[in-house]
Amino acid sequence: MKDAIFEVNNVSFSYEEANEKAMDQVSLSVPEGAFYAVLGQNGSGKSTLAKLLNGLYLPTSGQVLVCGMDTADEKNTWDIRQNAGMVFQNPDNQIVATIVEDDVAFGLENIGVAPTQMPGRIEQALLDVGMLEFRERAPHTLSGGQKQRIAIAGILAMEPRAIIFDEATAMLDPQGRKEVFAAVQKLNREKGITVLWITHFMEEAAQCQHVYIMEDGRIVMEGAPEEVFSLPEKMQALRLDAPAAARLAHRLREAGMPLKAGLLHMEETAKEVARACKLNSKA
Ligand SMILES: Nc1ncnc2c1ncn2[C@@H]1O[C@H](COP(=O)(O)OP(=O)(O)O)[C@@H](O)[C@H]1O
Ligand SMILES: [Mg+2]
Repeated sequence: MKDAIFEVNNVSFSYEEANEKAMDQVSLSVPEGAFYAVLGQNGSGKSTLAKLLNGLYLPTSGQVLVCGMDTADEKNTWDIRQNAGMVFQNPDNQIVATIVEDDVAFGLENIGVAPTQMPGRIEQALLDVGMLEFRERAPHTLSGGQKQRIAIAGILAMEPRAIIFDEATAMLDPQGRKEVFAAVQKLNREKGITVLWITHFMEEAAQCQHVYIMEDGRIVMEGAPEEVFSLPEKMQALRLDAPAAARLAHRLREAGMPLKAGLLHMEETAKEVARACKLNSKA
């Protein structure tokens, strides 16, 4: 098995004023090159986890390792932030410059990249998120999805090994959501960047390799999407809906239609239903 990029060992965390733990004995592991999801309702602890993962918060107990480095050791903070970038919900809070390429340059200046290296890195990062032709535009003239891709380019230019996305599509329209998710899938596939995709959208989690489901600061379920989402009753108990296709498949099975297990996506489900109907009409 490949080395873990993120390794969370039995971590608890409390905010100073709060009585309840925001993170309660959480353990998880994300291998290098993987595309994993953390799924949970509002207030379940997702952003707290994200901030523990890049050392913004330190565990009350337990240990967080990023690329093998303990976040509790201050010597590691710089390396950890460079290895694991973060993209947040609101693109407007992440974009600082009035020209797209200046915005991507901003992070590079901060980490002390040589000026001669900057143009090449900026160009590559914008190319990787499909935004190169917008390099001279003013960010405020762009759509939400485009702005979010600029924010991603800003992180990418720093050449991290992993990126944590904390509800990076939550403020976007369906089109923007799709385009950002597709851009991130491409980064994972073609650049091998490890992705931790934090979301409350089931349909997105269903497209990741492995899902951790959080509730009240705990991980209450985990597994491949095909396993996790094929248990609609369990999902309901967690106040989460399984993806629409999985619910449909479940109902149809209950009604006696012999559908294969692990259906999550509409297109695949439609084909499977058609197959079952054809079999039935021949019988
Ligand atoms: N700065 C804070 N101070 C005190 N409590 C907080 C703070 N941030 C979050 N919380 C509490 O911690 C819990 C987890 O919040 P959060 O990690 O933001 O969840 P999510 O990102 O899943 O919505 C919630 O109960 C929330 O109210
Ligand atoms: Mg959050």
